[in-house]
Amino acid sequence: MALIPEPTHDNWIGRHRALRASRRGLFAAAMAGGLAATLAERLPRWLGFSSSTTPDAGDGTLHMLGATSQIPVGGGKIFRAQKVVVTQPAAGTFKAFNAACTHAGCLVDSISDRKINCPCHPGVFRIDDGVPVSGPPKRPLAPAVVSVQGDQLYLHV
Ligand code: FES
Repeated sequence: MALIPEPTHDNWIGRHRALRASRRGLFAAAMAGGLAATLAERLPRWLGFSSSTTPDAGDGTLHMLGATSQIPVGGGKIFRAQKVVVTQPAAGTFKAFNAACTHAGCLVDSISDRKINCPCHPGVFRIDDGVPVSGPPKRPLAPAVVSVQGDQLYLHV
């Protein structure tokens, strides 16, 4: 039969100190977790790196593509990582298309003379609406959605 020690002043003090120490540890862990979460969220901005994604107001996610100034008027830019091409047919009007060619799926690779060019066969699309104008593609490039906030361009994914 196990003996349960009678509570004494000494073992009560010991338990009280152990409880205080564990509370301090728990508080320190919570503070460290909160600090880590805050740093993970804010450090990239403090260091000059923008967080590339942010929740959309609707049901998607916004992916920051960068400044609108990188999209020339009458031209465009291909974002290979996002597989999207963004054009600016007229000043302040931005269009976006899936960069996969509608002929056989190659990624378009250049923009010239208001045209988006596919290197594979070679297909050519208008920057205004993605409609094919020469080569084997018969269907326009699939539209993508971009928006401008301030001077930044966001892709809706
Ligand atoms: S895949 Fe683009 S023209 Fe054939």
